[in-house]
Amino acid sequence: MLLDQYAFGALGKRIARGFSAIFRREDEVKFKECISKSVSKNSVGVYIHFPFCKSLCPSCPYVRDLWQERVVKAYVSALKMEIGLVGEAFKDLGLRVVDIHAGGGTPSLIDREWGEVIQTVRERFDVSPDCRFGIEANPDDLTEDKAFQLRENGVDEISIGVQSLFKTNLRMLGRRHGVEESLEAVENCRSAGFKLINVDMMYMLPEQSTNLWVHDLKLASELDADQITCYPLLVPHYTPFYKMIKEGRVQEQPDMKEFKRMYYAAVHTLTHEGYTPIRYYSFSRKGEEYSTVELEMVGPLLGFGSGAMSFTGGYEYINTCSVKEYIKSVERGRLPIAGGRNVAKEERAVRYVSERLSALKLNIKDFEWVFGERFEALMKRIGYNMALRIGLLFGNLKREGDEIRVTEKGMWRRNLGGWAFVLSIPCRIVEEYTKTPWPIEVRVP
Ligand SMILES: C[S@@+](CC[C@H](N)C(=O)[O-])C[C@H]1O[C@@H](n2cnc3c(N)ncnc32)[C@H](O)[C@@H]1O
Ligand code: SF4
Repeated sequence: MLLDQYAFGALGKRIARGFSAIFRREDEVKFKECISKSVSKNSVGVYIHFPFCKSLCPSCPYVRDLWQERVVKAYVSALKMEIGLVGEAFKDLGLRVVDIHAGGGTPSLIDREWGEVIQTVRERFDVSPDCRFGIEANPDDLTEDKAFQLRENGVDEISIGVQSLFKTNLRMLGRRHGVEESLEAVENCRSAGFKLINVDMMYMLPEQSTNLWVHDLKLASELDADQITCYPLLVPHYTPFYKMIKEGRVQEQPDMKEFKRMYYAAVHTLTHEGYTPIRYYSFSRKGEEYSTVELEMVGPLLGFGSGAMSFTGGYEYINTCSVKEYIKSVERGRLPIAGGRNVAKEERAVRYVSERLSALKLNIKDFEWVFGERFEALMKRIGYNMALRIGLLFGNLKREGDEIRVTEKGMWRRNLGGWAFVLSIPCRIVEEYTKTPWPIEVRVP
């Protein structure tokens, strides 16, 4: 089997239809107008994309490029310029930054530069005193020295791409690091005093069995990370890994039955090891969360860097995925936005419900406060009430007072729906926007 956008059958098709979208290129004045008019509240998150890696993993679906010293230097300067441009353009909106995350690519390849970037955010925006800064990291970067450097440069939280503690899996994924480096990376981050350490693990790998996956997770639990996030290996068709499987250079992935077995094995193993599910794919020992999903889905989130997506709460837009064009645009003093689209109240409601159910509980009173409308009425209007009713009837959801909770039975369906969404929408956006820097229009899926 292949975990691509066609693997999810009717559920995948329904999700693809429900989230279909058209992004359009506009002139800068129009972009600015759409953004300022639609910011849903003053407290905003910031996402910074750092699209460079020392080597490119064949299965990677993200916007990323090979590290080139000269380009990275120009990119970091452009990032600071873009933050300045956005800060200036929206200075009258009274925005307050409450959360900053950098993803990639591999943000852990730089350290001192993060100090400068965060300083620029502070100069251009009002930053809340309890705002935390988190980055994604590759284990081979996290030497003791690097971990301390990152801490000194304002990084509070770290998410480490361990993926597996078996050499064969790491080799198959084309990872640069070995098992030893992952063990040392977590230890070094612990000594450097990060406030939150997340470890990413991967399953549904070719030749991986449920038993080996459980073994991998038990080893990962021994690392004593605050959070463990479990990603099934997704295979969008634009990744080299798809071709490798098709040409028989790599075996196919385990089948759907095994997917379900592996999924529940993760839920049970990690619960046994003292972790609690905080999202259908993420488990915590602390209760706090390393995550960018809430702001991506609900907003407002300001994205900086090539390929970064932003969502004001009513308008969604993406920066050009070409690093060269991104730098050129910002150096000319122009916002590097490649496309955007309005998001109507009904779609915002769907995004809100999906995000909350991905975090396994939805509070109806909170929903009504955000949307100023009765939950049932709005759900009926968007045709979601039937799905919720069926979920409750079949025991995938449970109502407790004002809360709708995802049951253990329902977590599997959330897992399927969540990854079907990622393959149909975000992955397709990356696929289209990496073909050309400034497309006139992009339709997804
Ligand atoms: C941007 S990467 C994290 C930072 C760093 N670049 C790394 O790879 O370690 C985010 C995470 O996505 C997950 N990932 C990578 N390729 C994937 C794929 N094809 N399907 C699902 N998840 C994937 C990995 O677990 C990875 O840690
Ligand atoms: S998985 Fe991480 S290290 Fe590998 S290419 Fe993607 S972003 Fe880079």
